[in-house]
Amino acid sequence: DAVELGQYRHYMQKEIFEQPQALASTLELIAGGGSISPQLFGSQAADVFGGVRRVLVLACGTSYHAGLVARYWLESVAKVPCTVEIASEYRYRDSVPDPDTLVVVISQSGETADTLAALKHAKSLGMTRTLAICNVPESAIVREAALRFITRAGPEIGVASTKAFTTQLAALALLTLALAKLAGRLPEAEEGRYLIALRHLPVAVQKVLELEPQIEAWAQRFAAKHHALFLGRGRHWPIAMEGALKLKEISYIHAEAYAAGELKHGPLALVDRDMPVIAIAPADELLEKLKSNLQEVRARGGELYVFADAGSEIAESEGVHILPMPEHYGMLSPVLHVVSLQLLSYHAALVKGTDVDKPRNLAKSVTVE
Ligand code: G6P
Repeated sequence: DAVELGQYRHYMQKEIFEQPQALASTLELIAGGGSISPQLFGSQAADVFGGVRRVLVLACGTSYHAGLVARYWLESVAKVPCTVEIASEYRYRDSVPDPDTLVVVISQSGETADTLAALKHAKSLGMTRTLAICNVPESAIVREAALRFITRAGPEIGVASTKAFTTQLAALALLTLALAKLAGRLPEAEEGRYLIALRHLPVAVQKVLELEPQIEAWAQRFAAKHHALFLGRGRHWPIAMEGALKLKEISYIHAEAYAAGELKHGPLALVDRDMPVIAIAPADELLEKLKSNLQEVRARGGELYVFADAGSEIAESEGVHILPMPEHYGMLSPVLHVVSLQLLSYHAALVKGTDVDKPRNLAKSVTVE
């Protein structure tokens, strides 16, 4: 183990730092002169994608959060209606099947019992257009799906998923662009811009990893807290959910995520000096809305920890701590913001002295119900 860990203390830390490489491998097909095409999802993909009118994503845990981000992308870029559902819910409820739906299952392991059963359930309802986004090529879920996209994160050992998540997002970005292109909604110039952003993504993630010392300093303050609230809006709301999941999984600090606009409908009642509020502040079209949500928190004495993109113009002040993130990264910005939250949880767990790679009561792969 010591050899494999190299310079790192834990697999989770190693896997967080492997993300630039994992993303580069996953995106290899579009490196250099590669372009967006259904072929990225296999030779049958053009047939399977043709006539798709909606997307249904089924997954569990962190993989479910990847699906939630993809919903924003699919609806805004490809204009395809998308539903994302927790696999264990979908498999047991009565739903209305639609054969023109592309069913996308997302799984790091490819063996999660609920996700596999949800895929079989969808097929039994007559939904044959199925795609598995998975990190393990010969897994049960991959074998069960008509199409596959294998993320190339490499083996993920830490129970808390990190590099599998960001590579799933890369795959889902490619899916979004492939469906957009098929539907005639991806002008060449725009495709070129997305390709540049995707090819540059490993370098952009590397820059976030360089923020580790500052994030570690923040984590020191968190470790003593019992609760934390994560806020985000739009495509960063699922990133807030993923940040909260990471924190509770490995540091055992109770964390909740809210869409920032929902604050006033409940969680604001919990905000006081003992409740750190972590906010994701990308410099996007929702920034001004988020800023007024942050003021609501400050007005109640809540202490804010804001991951703020350059250009967001949120200033440090009493009770408002800012961690400057690199330039806003457009559609792919969630990939950058989640990396900083992974580091925050990792360091909070270190301070607390928990078993980072094997948190209590949790399993890497849940193969039984
Ligand atoms: C477990 C793991 C999580 C993972 C989830 C889904 O709960 O601890 O990290 O997100 O299963 O796993 P999958 O392999 O299907 O992505």
